[in-house]
Amino acid sequence: MVLYNILITKPMLTINNLPKLSVQNLSSVKDLTKADVMSIIEVANLFKKNNKEKNKNIPILNGRTIINLFFEPSTRTLISFEVAAKRLGADMINMNIEGSSLRKGETLIDTADTLNAMNPDLVIIRHGSSGSIKEISSRLKCPIISAGEGTEEHPTQALLDAYTIQDNQKKFEEITVSICGDIEHSRVARSNYHLLKKMGSKIRFVTPDYFKPKDLDSFDVEYFDNLELGIESADIVMMLRIQKERINDVNLPSIDEYFKHFGLTHKKLTNAKKDVLVMHPGPINRNIEIESSLADDLDKSVINEQVENGVAVRMACLAVMVK
Ligand code: CP
Repeated sequence: MVLYNILITKPMLTINNLPKLSVQNLSSVKDLTKADVMSIIEVANLFKKNNKEKNKNIPILNGRTIINLFFEPSTRTLISFEVAAKRLGADMINMNIEGSSLRKGETLIDTADTLNAMNPDLVIIRHGSSGSIKEISSRLKCPIISAGEGTEEHPTQALLDAYTIQDNQKKFEEITVSICGDIEHSRVARSNYHLLKKMGSKIRFVTPDYFKPKDLDSFDVEYFDNLELGIESADIVMMLRIQKERINDVNLPSIDEYFKHFGLTHKKLTNAKKDVLVMHPGPINRNIEIESSLADDLDKSVINEQVENGVAVRMACLAVMVK
């Protein structure tokens, strides 16, 4: 109700009348309460409507400084955080890691101290190694958001996926979500597992033996090593990219062999529910984990919606986390 009033009186929207999260930092979805997740979805809903207007700006973060600190490549996450911060009126700085003093041997701790001295209001961090985000954030004096860490977590991807599921009129507690492909190396799979489980969904892991997570026993999932069986009657089929950059201990089959057994096609998808949503965090490998024509089939695929919703969800995260 409060948010509805905010929506129809857009000029009154300030960060003080938005809900706040129960956490300072967003490094793991495990730290979020269900109420936190619903708050982010509700606030994202306000921004999504406005993102379709000619004037997309809601400058409630005017004068605030937000820094993107990406140690790994990114298209969607990096740009959507930048778009999100700018639509909220913040000054957004993308730190160029390759051109930074980290390449002269400066440590993460000294980099964090240097950023602290410039008084940022929030720092967004992507890093390939587990533990690095904790190391940097323990030194920073402002809130941080993880934009993906090693094979651990990608919290805002899971939040935008949850938003997309709810936006398509699916109820979390009534759905079966099949997460399919390279689960062992996927931070998206882990964050989605923890978030959707928290919201009451049934989760399946569908993966060939060589991509089965080593800690499978720690997840409350149904496990399948067959794609057709694993997506039977599923409401959501979430495909994953093969994370080649993280694979050094697996003998992969040929692309043709992988696609034959684990590539999602229109034909295999007939096993799922009729109104199934096909999701993929991107970047996609066409005709490896998903048939190219299926990725583009807007009756089934919500891959572009995920990207669009990513802006609104990241605006919501910034708006509720910046002090
Ligand atoms: N889904 C995702 O994290 O994509 P990017 O690597 O392009 O940010």
